Amino acid sequence: MSLPTVRIDEDRLWQSLMTMAEIGATPGGGVCRIALTDVDREARDLFSTWCRDAGLDLRIDRMGNIIGRRTGRDPDAPAVVTGSHLDTQPLGGRFDGVYGVLAGLEVMRALNDAGIETQAPLEVIDWTDEEGVRFAAGVVASGVYAGRFDLEYGLNLPDRAGETTFARELARIGYDGEAPCGGYPVDAFFEAHIEQGPILEQEGVPIGAVMGAQGQRCYAVTVTGEEGHAGTLPMALRRDAMVGASRMIDGLYRLAFDVTPPPVITTGYVSVRPNSRNTVPGQVVFSIDIRHPDNAVLADVCARAEALCRAAAAELGVDVAIEESSRRDSIAFDADCVDVVRTAADGLGLACRDIYSGAGHDACNLARTVPTGMIFVPCKGGISHNEREDALPADLAAGCQVLLEAMVARAGLA
Ligand code: GLV
Ligand code: MN
Ligand code: MN
Repeated sequence: MSLPTVRIDEDRLWQSLMTMAEIGATPGGGVCRIALTDVDREARDLFSTWCRDAGLDLRIDRMGNIIGRRTGRDPDAPAVVTGSHLDTQPLGGRFDGVYGVLAGLEVMRALNDAGIETQAPLEVIDWTDEEGVRFAAGVVASGVYAGRFDLEYGLNLPDRAGETTFARELARIGYDGEAPCGGYPVDAFFEAHIEQGPILEQEGVPIGAVMGAQGQRCYAVTVTGEEGHAGTLPMALRRDAMVGASRMIDGLYRLAFDVTPPPVITTGYVSVRPNSRNTVPGQVVFSIDIRHPDNAVLADVCARAEALCRAAAAELGVDVAIEESSRRDSIAFDADCVDVVRTAADGLGLACRDIYSGAGHDACNLARTVPTGMIFVPCKGGISHNEREDALPADLAAGCQVLLEAMVARAGLA
């Protein structure tokens, strides 16, 4: 179904994105807006103001998710929901996450301008802490909303430094809301996002209808040796935790090339104790992020990764403790929702291809309990989680227009 009379406003969407990108802007042209920091609060405040200005009913739930609701002719009908996240990586870009939030807001603004009432209510959500930089796991707030995690688990999550908790930081920035997290009827969830990969750009296709996302398991690995003097402790007597961790990380990298089709394996976080030039490292903690579209292959790769770490530890005389910090099976999105996205693109004369997501998204949590679809748009060079992340205003607008059509198709016109 196509709504030729309701056009999203490309300039307004772009300007909103650029205004939001000033909050936490980095010298390299990206954004650092880590969840539940003061910068995140600033972004939340701005988004909340924009929602109120658009006449949306605003509520904050127990996990700090910000929900803007546009009522429908039937206010009790299951809502059609969209959203993504305002938080970023430490050296993130201007689009990962925030695009899906502000595209949702633009849908509401465009419907307001056109005086369109939908049958079912519409909601736009900023999900708290999608990225999992501070609180290790990521997508926890949408996970609580979707019933994947208990509220208590989410609220009690410690930060990586062990200094505070999710609940304390929510309260500190004033987003410890009182609305229940989830638990109300939702008809469908759609998330618009940059692809974060190269396929759409390479093929010159503006819209990706996302079929699902690959599985992911994350680990925190603690390698323990013993501190010693860098000048006096003979090499043969050392239990160097850094050497142990390095051997494991190199082995993990090689493992990724040893499986077909290959998994992706990343160590992006390392902390060294005591992190001093002239002390042999006594302890290293590092992260492993392993992803594969096939759950059985993923399980096998994870088992091999663990075995490889234990073998390296034994060989070097250090101890290793491996703790799984998160796990998500690969997920297929709802066939009808994927089809609604394809049909919307088709109706607008936009080329569209089916695509799988390599990244995790809040939509992956929602898909467990709610019919879910995602809309991908191209990003420059497929670059993401990088200050250089970039996208074209016209592509972002096309994705937003598809989002509008998809949401209205599900919600119905009053
Ligand atoms: C989130 O961006 C992820 O895929 O880890
Ligand atoms: Mn994202
Ligand atoms: Mn991300």
